[in-house]
Formats: sequence, structure tokens, C-alpha cells
Amino acid sequence: MSNGIIPALNELVEYICTPDEQVMFLTPSYAYFKYAADYNHRQSVCSDLIEKDGYYSIDFADLEKKAADPKTTLFIFCNPHNPTGRVWKEDELEKLARIIEKHHLWVISDEIHCDLTRAGQKHIPLGKLMSEYNQLITCMAPSKTFNLAGLMISNIIIRDEKLKETWLNRHYNFDNPLSIAAAQAAYEKGEAWLTELQIYLDNNFKYTEEYLNVHLPKAKFQISEATYLAWVDLSAYFNKDEDLPLFFAYKAGVLLEGGNMFIQNSDCYIRLNLACPKATLAEGLKRIAEAINNIEP
Ligand SMILES: Cc1ncc(COP(=O)(O)O)c(C=O)c1O
Repeated sequence: MSNGIIPALNELVEYICTPDEQVMFLTPSYAYFKYAADYNHRQSVCSDLIEKDGYYSIDFADLEKKAADPKTTLFIFCNPHNPTGRVWKEDELEKLARIIEKHHLWVISDEIHCDLTRAGQKHIPLGKLMSEYNQLITCMAPSKTFNLAGLMISNIIIRDEKLKETWLNRHYNFDNPLSIAAAQAAYEKGEAWLTELQIYLDNNFKYTEEYLNVHLPKAKFQISEATYLAWVDLSAYFNKDEDLPLFFAYKAGVLLEGGNMFIQNSDCYIRLNLACPKATLAEGLKRIAEAINNIEP
């Protein structure tokens, strides 16, 4: 157990990588993957995802090239992917697995968003396709699925005995009994609630798509395959040095995360959190659209 995936990443980078080794991840990225490298004074190397009509895929040739660098020893993977919402499919995971194996990489698969899939999507844990691979760590948590982030509990599944021993020797965890009880209750009794939540989120995504089509027709957006995050390309409305969080804070009264939050390959994108009541979402989208449509030509 760990009080969060973020502190676990910070620790694991130190345990896995020597000071001259580097950490690889896909961009746009959840920024804490890079912060875990920065925190440990390790270099990071990014492989940009390829975007086509709002749908993202892995640039396997680029990834393989970077994986082949002897300095690259750890790949932090996000499955499903934050911020694009991709649920990686079996053939994609197979290709990835072959690259990881070929270059003997360590891999941390952060699967924190795995329960929040859209209808018809199926999450496949990387560990399922790499069942014999020892250098794989899977991170999971009830915090996103059941909105329990404040209880600070997550599971870090380490296969390698030596790494597990290091973790158990060095990791200090505060195992709050209330958090354990809440996690157990959520996993054992929360399924009906989760099913309703998924339907609610699916509807918020449909609403967002319809709203953007009508009010911001030049925004590029595809409904995420998982997560509660909408990843919206506003490059038709802004140039790339615009500080979008600042713009929407001042002009719309809407607070968005931004800046270097997604590391690179993310200029002119905003990420909206749709895990909120529809009325809040509707108000937020209305303010965003009004602020953009009021920009002087
Ligand atoms: C991919 C990913 N990993 C980890 C976290 C945070 O995990 P924790 O609260 O367990 O540190 C988040 C939260 O946004 C996330 O999106």
C-alpha cells in the first residue's frame, strides 16, 4: 500500500534508476510522471502521441528509438491514458510489451483510471499481456473511481522480489484503518453506484460534445474512452503562447489546470473535469464558450 500513487512514483524512480538513467513516458502526460523524475534528479525522455481527428495513438517507431537508448531504463505508462482518455487496445499493448521486453525496461503501469470506462470500452491491464514479466509494477487505487482521494490509499503491485524487499524496507506507510475500511467497502459494495456513475459520466460527455458542436464548432473533441476528463483542442481559437488557464480564470471565472501540467504536445488544449453535476458542467461550458466567442477578431 501507499498513501498515493504520486509518492509511490517518487520512491520507485529512486529505487529503479541509477542517477544517470532516464525515465520515459508518453506526451501529453500526467505531469507527475515527469515530476517523479525531476524529484530524483533523473532525466526524462518523452515520446509524443500522434493525434488524428482528436484520436491518439502511440508512435511506436519513436518509442522504440527512445527505448533503445541504454540510458532509458524505466517507462511510466498510463493505462487508460490521462489526459487523452485512450483505453489502449490489445494490439497496442502487445506492441508495447514487445518493445519493453526487447529493451529490458522496467515499467510502471499507472491504471488508476481503469474503472471509469465509457460504455462498450474494456480496460486490459498491461500485466495481463506481460504475465511473466518481472520488471512490471502496476498502480491502482479506489480514489478516482469512488472519489476517495482524500483517504490517501493506493495499491502498488510489485512483482520483482528484490524491488519488493527494497520497497518494504524503505517505504513508510501510514495505513489508516478508516481508509482501508472505506476502500474495502467501495470495492465490495460500490458496483451498483459505479454503474450509475458511468452512465452519468457518459451523459456528461455526450452533453459536452453536443454543446461544443453548436457553440464552439471549431473546437476539436472526441469523447474520451475512459476517465472523467475531456481533452479539448482550442487551437482554432488561440495561438500557442496563450496562457489558457489565465484566460479562462479572468474571462470566464472558470479554473482549469494548465501551464506545464501536460509537459508537451499539449499547446492550446484544455482538460475539463466532467465528474460534476450536469448543471455545473453546463454553466462551465457556457462561460467558456461565451469568453471565446467574445474575443475581438
Ligand atoms: C494518472 C494518474 N495517476 C495518479 C494520480 C494521483 O494519484 P494519487 O492521488 O494516488 O497520488 C492521478 C490523479 O489525477 C492520475 O490522473
